Amino acid sequence: MTTYNIALLAGDGIGPEVMAEAVKVLKLVEKRNADVNFELNDVLFGAVAYFATGKAFPDETKAACDKADAILKGTIGLSHEDSKKIPVDEQPERGALLPLRRRYNTYANFRPVYLPKSIAHFSPLKASVVGEGIDIMLIRELVGGLYFGKKETGINSEGKRYVHETLEYDEDQIRQIVRVGFEVSMKRKKVMHNIHKSNVLKSSVLWNEIVEEEKKNFPEVEVINILVDAAATYLCLKPTMFDVMVMENMFGDILSDQAGGILGSLGLMPSACKGPEKSYYEPSHGSAPDIAGKGIANPYSMIGSVALMLEMSFGMEKEAKNLWAAMQGVFEDGYSTSDLSKEGDANLVSTAEFGDMVCEKLAKMPV
Ligand code: IPM
Ligand code: MN
Repeated sequence: MTTYNIALLAGDGIGPEVMAEAVKVLKLVEKRNADVNFELNDVLFGAVAYFATGKAFPDETKAACDKADAILKGTIGLSHEDSKKIPVDEQPERGALLPLRRRYNTYANFRPVYLPKSIAHFSPLKASVVGEGIDIMLIRELVGGLYFGKKETGINSEGKRYVHETLEYDEDQIRQIVRVGFEVSMKRKKVMHNIHKSNVLKSSVLWNEIVEEEKKNFPEVEVINILVDAAATYLCLKPTMFDVMVMENMFGDILSDQAGGILGSLGLMPSACKGPEKSYYEPSHGSAPDIAGKGIANPYSMIGSVALMLEMSFGMEKEAKNLWAAMQGVFEDGYSTSDLSKEGDANLVSTAEFGDMVCEKLAKMPV
């Protein structure tokens, strides 16, 4: 029997609702796999933690994450107005999420842009563009670049307010994420799109040098270099031309949201954030305060993050595949939630009912 300790960081907004469905799934997976035991540890994170303890990432949560085998995070953040109730440095993005990424050096962010035919109707793209379906693994560097660089604001010698932010990468940081890109490419179609902006940014010049160097270790992988702005266009025009895409932090932030748009919703994009020792898993969408508490948020992205955790942290690849299939099966049967679909387009069910249906499907699959 293997026991896995999982820290659950439900967070704010719709976080607790979608997390409840993830927990349902985990309990079922535990029941189906007699040799696996999950120890679930619920802890505070985000605005909810700030209001309870004065810290968005409290020490108790850090301790729970430190001892966990994997971390499953819901969503964090408040509406623009409510955010003002929290001092800038304790606002959940700056006070909890970025420190979580830094603490575990989760440099590799995997965002599957997966749109099989069964859920292609969610995409705003024409059927002729979606073709047989979209299946991209977008890999984003997650702990470097502009988001983590030194920042300075002040008044300059001309009396004007100014801001100075720095984009820094060293070759080791680039190399480790580029390697991840190559390794994932080797397991997939052996074609990697390297996203850069070397016609302007020196950081991309260094990035591309490292890609060239690392390519020597992966001679079978074809590297296609593409400027980030062009990649944005092609993601819309011809998304099926991509398989693995690798890029730095801010490019990945923006292109992965665009990819969410291509799927039809960020609610259809789970994610994994992998560090050298620890990984955490989270839906790519935000806390959606406008629909929180209504029971209409689709838990696909949250449950998909469980699937990624099963595969990447616990080596349960088969069960992860089953879970993906179970989720798709619910959509194939014509069910959806009202955040994703209108009445008439689908049979609308609640967040909890959707989670129940996923569990019903999973329960019927051979382990
Ligand atoms: C994401 C989010 C975060 C990011 C925010 C909440 C800081 O948008 O995970 O993409 O920009 O990395
Ligand atoms: Mn983002």
